[in-house]
Amino acid sequence: MSRTPQGQRASLDKQPHEVAAMFDGVAARYDLTNTVLSFGQDRAWRRSTRAALALRPGERVLDVGAGTGVSTEELAQSGAYAVGADLSLGMLYAGKRTRPAVPLLAGDALRLPFADASFDAVTISFALRNVNDTDAALRELARVTRPGGRLVVCEFSTPVNPAFRTVYLSYLMRSLPVVARTVSSNPDAYVYLAESIRAWPDQSALAARVAAAGWGRVAWRNLTGGVVALHRAVRD
Ligand SMILES: C[S@@+](CC[C@H](N)C(=O)[O-])C[C@H]1O[C@@H](n2cnc3c(N)ncnc32)[C@H](O)[C@@H]1O
Repeated sequence: MSRTPQGQRASLDKQPHEVAAMFDGVAARYDLTNTVLSFGQDRAWRRSTRAALALRPGERVLDVGAGTGVSTEELAQSGAYAVGADLSLGMLYAGKRTRPAVPLLAGDALRLPFADASFDAVTISFALRNVNDTDAALRELARVTRPGGRLVVCEFSTPVNPAFRTVYLSYLMRSLPVVARTVSSNPDAYVYLAESIRAWPDQSALAARVAAAGWGRVAWRNLTGGVVALHRAVRD
């Protein structure tokens, strides 16, 4: 764990206690910081995630790494029963305060507190990148999903246009930490954000890992030119 006068950030080996402590530190202003740093795009990305899941009223959907429940709340708009799970009690408490109606519980993506085949759909938004064993998390998501159930992973990815990619990477490494200093309760966490995005597999590499974890019909769609990608799959 790195510490500075402003706060703390996880290292890229993503030990769960470090990740949880880092998110505890950003929880108070998480929703606002996200919207500022993404220029308001986060709302559109969440709507696209809900659409990709094609939820029907009465279905059960699990949102892993739900944080403050901002992604879970969006899913509930479909009429499905949406429940969120997260490792950071700070994020969960912030969510309980701001979204008391959203069901949120403590749970680790690597050991979800649910029986096999409990859900019609599972999703994970901007959280898979933070789990220290990506492949084990994808297998655990498959375990709690019924056969034929759906997965959508919403995660930062690799912009497809080379010129845009250069501008974006410069924003990520130089401007984003500066902007975060003015809005976030733990700006150092946003240095980790930039580093972890750069180290994350691109669209096709992530698709291969989803397929290897027990998911079929894997496909992806780029949002905002590939700043974010939605990976879809169906439980074999
Ligand atoms: C960037 S936030 C995303 C929150 C929300 N899904 C959203 O779309 O804004 C990432 C969340 O993943 C959680 N997280 C990281 N590792 C986790 C794990 N192993 N199990 C469950 N949650 C985890 C963190 O605590 C954090 O709340």
